Amino acid sequence: MEGYVAVAKTEEVPKDGRKRFEVEGKRITVFNIDDEYFAILDTCPHKKTAPLLRGRLDGTAVHCPNHGYRFDLKTGECNVSPDFNTSVFPVKVDGEIIYLGIHL
Ligand code: FES
Repeated sequence: MEGYVAVAKTEEVPKDGRKRFEVEGKRITVFNIDDEYFAILDTCPHKKTAPLLRGRLDGTAVHCPNHGYRFDLKTGECNVSPDFNTSVFPVKVDGEIIYLGIHL
């Protein structure tokens, strides 16, 4: 699976769960929304202090716990300004292993 890195077993991120991983120096949060996985850089790009891990979900987006900016988990787009768009990573599951496409 070229470009992908194994990060977890599926049981670590159960349905409607979330977990942060350190992957090659990047803090990445994986969300499981109705058994669909999404991965986003955990640090909010606004003030670079808030963890999106603690954000409120809104469909397939997450609101930063600090000032509420909304980040699309499919695209990384921020609803306030493109200056705050962030990185998202494709997720694949093979068997019980979750892989993130951090080298694509
Ligand atoms: S720190 Fe996330 S919106 Fe301000």
